[in-house]
Amino acid sequence: MAGRIPQTFIDDLVARADIVELIGARVPLKKAGREFKACCPFHDEKTASFWVSPDKQFYHCFGCSAHGTALGFLMNYDKLSFVDAVEELAGRLGVDVPREAGGPDTHDTGSASLYDINARVAKYFAARLTENPVARNYVTKRGLTTNTIESFLIGYAPDSWSAVLQEFGQHDAGRQSLADAGLIIERERAGARAQERYYDRFRDRLMFPIRDARGRVLAFGGRVLGSGEPKYLNSPETLLFHKGRELYGLYECRQHRTPLTRLLVVEGYMDVARLHQAGITYAVATLGTATTAEHLRRLFKLVSEVVFCFDGDRAGRGAAWRALGNALPEARDGRQIRFLFLPDGQDPDSLVGTEGREVFEKRVDTALPLSEYLIKALAEDVDLSHADGRAQLAELARPLVVKVPGGVFRDLLIERLAESIGLNSARLSHLWFNEAPGANGLPAPIRHGLDRLAAGGKPSGSRVATSTGRGGVVTQAVKLLVHFPPVAPRISEAVLAQLDAARDSGAQFLRAMLTELREQPLAHTGQLLERWRDRPEHARLQQLATQEVLIADEHAALTELNQAVGRIALAEYTQRYDELLAKSSSSDLSQTEQAELLDIAAAMRELRVMAQPSRN
Ligand code: CTP
Ligand code: MN
Repeated sequence: MAGRIPQTFIDDLVARADIVELIGARVPLKKAGREFKACCPFHDEKTASFWVSPDKQFYHCFGCSAHGTALGFLMNYDKLSFVDAVEELAGRLGVDVPREAGGPDTHDTGSASLYDINARVAKYFAARLTENPVARNYVTKRGLTTNTIESFLIGYAPDSWSAVLQEFGQHDAGRQSLADAGLIIERERAGARAQERYYDRFRDRLMFPIRDARGRVLAFGGRVLGSGEPKYLNSPETLLFHKGRELYGLYECRQHRTPLTRLLVVEGYMDVARLHQAGITYAVATLGTATTAEHLRRLFKLVSEVVFCFDGDRAGRGAAWRALGNALPEARDGRQIRFLFLPDGQDPDSLVGTEGREVFEKRVDTALPLSEYLIKALAEDVDLSHADGRAQLAELARPLVVKVPGGVFRDLLIERLAESIGLNSARLSHLWFNEAPGANGLPAPIRHGLDRLAAGGKPSGSRVATSTGRGGVVTQAVKLLVHFPPVAPRISEAVLAQLDAARDSGAQFLRAMLTELREQPLAHTGQLLERWRDRPEHARLQQLATQEVLIADEHAALTELNQAVGRIALAEYTQRYDELLAKSSSSDLSQTEQAELLDIAAAMRELRVMAQPSRN
């Protein structure tokens, strides 16, 4: 794990970014007043409802409600992870991303030179492919077009023990980089001359560069031309390359401007290349390993639907079962995980070649949902026509079901299993989780739905909205801050102090937010959203950013905010005042309470004078 990126760096980075330029480079923007508009890149539309605000450094689509900051745009449009988006933005501005102490820095000069050597060697291999008739003949035979070869940067490693070494390893530094990148291997019995100590790892192989989401070459996979062992040879684990993390083809998926909604996970390099060539541009491959939890987390950051594709043979079924085991903890509500089994002896490469895109995509569309696959696979081993068999199914299913996070999906899975077992699902749930049967005897999914409705759809952990009438004013004040962060430092100490005694959680949040923005001022909405990215209120603030404010400028915002704070304080005081009055009618107030009552009365009078009716 690399150290964290300091928040101050992200603040600065976002302050320096220009969202109009960033989005404008990818989507044709038209000026419209102070903002810019375009046809939304995140959904199909004929009239422009996608707006970019240079003042707020924020984009918003009124059609599909896509919205976010410059970093958010890179994440959604270029499909980068947060850290990659930060790196990308920093790269455009020509600055290095600092890391806090606490972990080895994977972005130091060492890794920079590995990216560099990998990129140069990939280019070198690509050039060797064009000039080698045998290799060219092989790729043609495998049905790869020139276009595919170029977009995947496929190349050829010459049939030599020292081609790469000669080309890039004349000096010590170059040789060291090659060795660190796993491109050359040290001989067991090293010769006297430095160059004779090493030999090329990849020889006479078709080369598939493995790139990260940003297109940087991390490693290589090399296939023998024709037959030979091993069929595929991969780069070793290096500073840059961790097999269990990377997905082959992810960068290439990102190059297509249709939004990514699902990803198809296949087994091989050739499968990915041929699927993309056929127009199935959402295929990626794990690199000869089982699908790991890390893979899954990466996949679900990008899309909500993942389809695993396996050969129909025994090995394929084994791999599917392992993938299922890793997928269960990631099977949350709103995510779809499905399993596609191909006919025995076929892989996506061969199938898409013979049947074409449409027929193959029909298979993808009808892949088995995770729950169906789980039950089907378990039921294969037991005899459901006997009570024994059904009990056995319950036993086999238990360790799997407990891996699934609680939620509607797990409840539905339990319902389906209960159905197969012939047991009441509440009983089954009770048996497995020691949970009381559903409240009022309602089936668990309905109970969950009711709970959700009762929660009012508010993001949990959000303290912005409150149940009191104050909530409206607090929300209005927070919204003003979201739209006009530079106003915060202009709120006077005295106004802020009005919130010191606030007991309402929303008012407390407002106070904390004002305090923070006074101490560490921010220039615009985008920057504010980035600072709050990892805090529980982020979703709510983002939502407020998409709402319109009927306020023209910072001056008006300041007036409005001062008044809102006053009204919140007034509501707080009124509540405390009423409490004290009520108490005084049944018992005597202490000295301090009496003093408090008087102070409050005075403060309230003052606030009433100040508080003007708000405009919205
Ligand atoms: N693999 C590997 N090492 C091997 C064999 C396979 O890393 N010795 C990985 C590769 O990523 C390969 C994938 O497993 O792409 C699938 O292997 P396999 O099904 O044997 O190959 P195909 O993808 O079908 O390759 P081809 O069509 O070129 O024979
Ligand atoms: Mn194959």
